[in-house]
Amino acid sequence: MHGFSHREAYMDGARWRRAGMRVEVLTGEDAIAGAIPDVAALRIAVFRDFPYLYDGDADYERAYLADFAVAAGAVVVVARAGARVVGAATGVPLAAAEPEWAAPFEARGLPVDTRFYCAESVLLPDWRGLGIGHAFFDAREAHARRLGLSHSCFCSVIRPGNHPARPDAYRSNDAFWRKRGYRPLDGVTARFSWRDIGDAEETRKMLQFWERTLS
Ligand SMILES: CC(C)(COP(=O)(O)OP(=O)(O)OC[C@H]1O[C@@H](n2cnc3c(N)ncnc32)[C@H](O)[C@@H]1OP(=O)(O)O)[C@@H](O)C(=O)NCCC(=O)NCCS
Repeated sequence: MHGFSHREAYMDGARWRRAGMRVEVLTGEDAIAGAIPDVAALRIAVFRDFPYLYDGDADYERAYLADFAVAAGAVVVVARAGARVVGAATGVPLAAAEPEWAAPFEARGLPVDTRFYCAESVLLPDWRGLGIGHAFFDAREAHARRLGLSHSCFCSVIRPGNHPARPDAYRSNDAFWRKRGYRPLDGVTARFSWRDIGDAEETRKMLQFWERTLS
C-alpha cells in the first residue's frame, strides 16, 4: 500500500540501543492481527491508570481491535524491548474508523476523508521518557502523509482537576501534544461510556479532540 512496507524498523540511536528498544510499523491485516493480543494487554494495563481508570475487558478489547485490524489504512506501531512488546500506538483514517469517532467532525461540518485518527498510545511506565512517544507520533503522521491525508487528530479524556483518583505526581500529556503541533479543536468533543476502576456501572465521559495539519 502506497509503497509502505509491512514492517519498518525505527531506531533512535544510543538511548534505545542501551535499552534494547526497537520500534516497528505494522500495516496490513495479517501483520496487525498478529499484534492484537499485545495491544489488548497493553490497553488494559496502561488505561487502568488515571485519567482513564478503565476497567478493561479482554473480550471487548479483542472485538474492538479485530474491527480495527481490517480497517483500510490502519497502522500499529509497536515498541519492543528485546522480544517483549512494551508499547503500542494505533491509527486509522477517520473515514475507516468506527463511525462514532467521525460523528463529532460531521456534526461541525468538518471533512472526515482528509483526516487521520490516532487512536491510542500505550507504553508501560518503565519505558517512558525515552522518546518512544515521539516515535509513535512520527510513524503515524508519516503513515497518514503517505495516505495523502492533510490532518492528524486524536481525542483525550477530560477529568476534573480535583478528581479523587488523580495522583499527586500526575503530569498531563498536554504540553507534549502542543509541542507536537496539536491543539484542542473548539467544540469537537465525544461522549463515551466505560466502567471506571472500582465502580459498579459504566459512566459517560467527555473526550476532547485535538488536531494538527500535516505538511
Ligand atoms: C503518552 C506516552 C505514550 C508517551 O510516551 P513516552 O515515550 O514517555 O514519551 P517521550 O519520551 O517521547 O516524551 C514525550 C514528551 O513527554 C514529556 N515527558 C516524557 N517523559 C517525561 C518525564 N518522565 N518527565 C517529564 N516529562 C516527560 C516530554 O515533554 C517529552 O518531550 P521532549 O522530550 O521533547 O521534551 C506514555 O507516557 C504513555 O503511555 N502514557 C499513558 C497512556 C497515555 O496517556 N496515552 C496517550 C493517550 S492514548
